Amino acid sequence: MLTKKMEKELNKQINAEFYSSYLYLSMVTYFDSIGLPGFSAWMKAQTQEEIAHGMKIFDHVSERGGRVLLDAIEKPAFKWKSPLDAFKAALDHERLITSKINRLVDIARKEKDHATDNFLQWFISEQVEEETNVGDINDKLKLIGNDKSALFMLDQEMGKRIFTPPADKQ
Ligand code: FEO
Repeated sequence: MLTKKMEKELNKQINAEFYSSYLYLSMVTYFDSIGLPGFSAWMKAQTQEEIAHGMKIFDHVSERGGRVLLDAIEKPAFKWKSPLDAFKAALDHERLITSKINRLVDIARKEKDHATDNFLQWFISEQVEEETNVGDINDKLKLIGNDKSALFMLDQEMGKRIFTPPADKQ
């Protein structure tokens, strides 16, 4: 059984994950608008991943006898100065999500909710992966600078990403 405090905080995280999905979906339209279909496809996969994160917490709240309360999702930004600017925003956002997950673990421990603490460990590892993936693309974009042909090649590479549902991950 979740404590009221834990239930409230997990509900906030469901909202944060769905907001992440919304933010990245906004980036899908941005990359489409500047003619980068590979970046757009990459962000679409990221959007699906965030929905899966939100649903994972949604299921945990239900399974632990809590009630999911869906709140309004904040309007995301819709334009960025460049692909690098968008990926910098994505990295900042992932760092923010990491801090929220860390805080949730602190709360689970304070509430002596070992099941939620254990459940959140998956998210701790996932955030390491999220920050690494987004950080690597930031590094590549910095190296590319104004080189249009290198950007075209990276776009082709990004387009190969396929969404893997979290349950299928190791
Ligand atoms: Fe659900 Fe990208 O963190």
